[in-house]
Amino acid sequence: MSKPAVLPEDIAREVIAPESYAEWNGVLDTFDRLREEMPVAKVIAEDDVFEPFWLITRYEDVMRISKDNKTFLNNPKPVVFSTREATAFSQAATGSNMLVDSLVVFDAPIHPKYRKLTMDWFMPRNLDKIEAEIRALAHRTVDRMIEAGPEVDFVIEVSGPYPLHVVMQILGVPEEDEPRMMMLTQQMFGGQDADLSGTGMDNMTPEQVLQLVSGAVKSFEDYFAQLAKDRRANPTDDVASVIANALVDGKPLPPRDLAGYYIIVATAGHDTTSASTAGAMMALANDPEQFARVKADRSLLPGIVEEAIRWTSPVQHFMRTAAEDVEVGGQQIKAGDWMMINYVAANHDPAQFENPRKFDAARSPNRHLAFGAGAHQCLGLHLARLEMRILFEALLDRIESIAPAGEAKRSNSTFVGGLKTLPLRITPA
Ligand code: HEM
Repeated sequence: MSKPAVLPEDIAREVIAPESYAEWNGVLDTFDRLREEMPVAKVIAEDDVFEPFWLITRYEDVMRISKDNKTFLNNPKPVVFSTREATAFSQAATGSNMLVDSLVVFDAPIHPKYRKLTMDWFMPRNLDKIEAEIRALAHRTVDRMIEAGPEVDFVIEVSGPYPLHVVMQILGVPEEDEPRMMMLTQQMFGGQDADLSGTGMDNMTPEQVLQLVSGAVKSFEDYFAQLAKDRRANPTDDVASVIANALVDGKPLPPRDLAGYYIIVATAGHDTTSASTAGAMMALANDPEQFARVKADRSLLPGIVEEAIRWTSPVQHFMRTAAEDVEVGGQQIKAGDWMMINYVAANHDPAQFENPRKFDAARSPNRHLAFGAGAHQCLGLHLARLEMRILFEALLDRIESIAPAGEAKRSNSTFVGGLKTLPLRITPA
């Protein structure tokens, strides 16, 4: 077997730097090169700040790894890229590699048992029941945007708050608690971007940042323990009641797993959907003809939603641990090796998507990997599509035209990323 393909240091630094993902075209150029020259490449930190991992950039390999949940595990190594220091901190704080043990951290046999608990709730048949509530939220959000206009930051007015309202509604969290939930989520996921953390994290030592993040986790845990207590006493048909009253092997979920379940539902669904929504709006603002076409023909909307999710790929990666020795893309992976499946790279692979950087609402087929694949494929994918379709129906009804009104900026993040600001000029219908 030939020697492993090791990424040059400058590229290794680039692919793990949160700022790289704010420079979208730059990182896409790098992934284009890697897919061609080193589609499975070992990433080694010059100063050993993180454990070496294999970076996987081709669509075909990301698909294979995602679907083979026996050979490629979500545990025991962290399922999201983190430094040795962050992992050690998690270990010290919680006894686990991840601050939160949620669905995405578990493998079989626990994972399918936990996933089954809420799977039906997230299916279209059940979501139909909450469509009217989501529509009402969409219209309220669009009302507020129009009141704030004609110049608005679409992220602040619409794509940020709307998915948060939806997730909080399905969890039964009262509206007055939403700002706190938003702040805690951003501390957990947006912590790499000082503008988003809202806490001036850039002035903090790594230890202070980690303290802040673990404080956010503790606040979430306390909050959801109370919510579960309430839903056991007064069950409703929301997803919070399903989780609170769930039994696995005849027993309720242990407190940490219960909190983890709430936290993933509370956090996985808003920054992600927000990023795809903002991306779609930016694409339409930059292409008035496409906007006019979809305004006149709503049957184009599902295509726009799907393409926005591919084009933005808000979840930029997840990690896997090899369960056994295995070959991928000509490289010998050893049992225990850590691997990054990069969805941004896979969703811009020209072998799968013609002209991948183009936002093409008519793209068909569009079998993107933005929701992953296999046993862990996004539990909320029907909800995300539904939310986006309903919001765009409301927007298209109420807006005559949109135009860019300043520079759109992306967040600094290696994990969940997207636009953090999108200034637009809105002309109401
Ligand atoms: C898992 C993406 C919206 C809940 C995932 C995964 C990805 C993803 C890539 C991991 C898949 C894998 O490992 O194969 C997205 C994107 C979204 C979105 C791009 C929006 C555009 C949502 C929403 C919810 C949600 C709205 C629910 C409120 C979850 C949960 C998991 C998950 C619970 C863990 C599933 C498991 O491990 O079994 N999502 N997601 N997501 N997502 Fe989403």
